[in-house]
Amino acid sequence: VRDGEAPEPVDDSLAAMRDAARGCKRCPLWKPATQTVFGEGPDDARVLFIGEQPGDAEDLSGHPFVGPAGKLFDRALAELGLDRAKFYVTNAVKHFKYEVRGKVRLHRSPDASERAACRIWLERELAAVKPDAIVCLGAIAARSVLGSKFRLMAQRGQWQTLADGTRVMATVHPSFVLRQRGDEERHAAYAQFVADLSLLKRGKR
Ligand code: URA
Repeated sequence: VRDGEAPEPVDDSLAAMRDAARGCKRCPLWKPATQTVFGEGPDDARVLFIGEQPGDAEDLSGHPFVGPAGKLFDRALAELGLDRAKFYVTNAVKHFKYEVRGKVRLHRSPDASERAACRIWLERELAAVKPDAIVCLGAIAARSVLGSKFRLMAQRGQWQTLADGTRVMATVHPSFVLRQRGDEERHAAYAQFVADLSLLKRGKR
C-alpha cells in the first residue's frame, strides 16, 4: 500500500482487521513505529476499553497496555475482582508516536489528523465486538467516542448512552495516575480511578 492508504480487511472479523492494520499507512506514524498495536480480547467481549496510543513497551511487544500504564490498569481491575481477559482492550491510535531524547523515546500526543486517520480501525473494532459498555481511558479516547466537547474532569465516572444504546463512561488515563508527583496525590488519583472503574460492577451500569 502507498502512503496515506491501508489494506482492506478481507472480511469483517477482528482477525482480518488486525491483519490489514499491520500494513496501515493512513498517517505517517507507521514509519518510526516498530509495529501496529491492534486491540486484543474476546470478539464477544461485553466491555471494551479504549486507551490513547501504544507506549514504548507496547510498540516493542505489539500488545496494548503491557507497560507501566498497563500494569496499573491490571492492578486496578484485579482490586475490583474484574478479569481483564474478559474485556477487549484497544487504543484510539494504533501506532506509537514519540520523540527521541537521549536513550529514551518520549510519548507525544497524536494530533487531530493522526487520530482521524486511525479512527476507521476503532470504528471497525466497535462494529465487530458490539460491546454493551465502552470505557474510555483519558481525554483522547473519550473525545474519540463522545466528541471534542467532552470534558474529562467534569464528566468522568458518569455513564452516558450513545444513539445505538451502548453505554459509555470515561475515566483518567492510568498514566495520569502515574504522573502525580506526591504520594498523596498519586494515591488519591488511583483511588478515584478505581472508584470510576467500579461502575463496571454489576448493578452500577
Ligand atoms: N497507553 C495507552 O494509552 N495505551 C497503551 O496501550 C499503553 C499505554
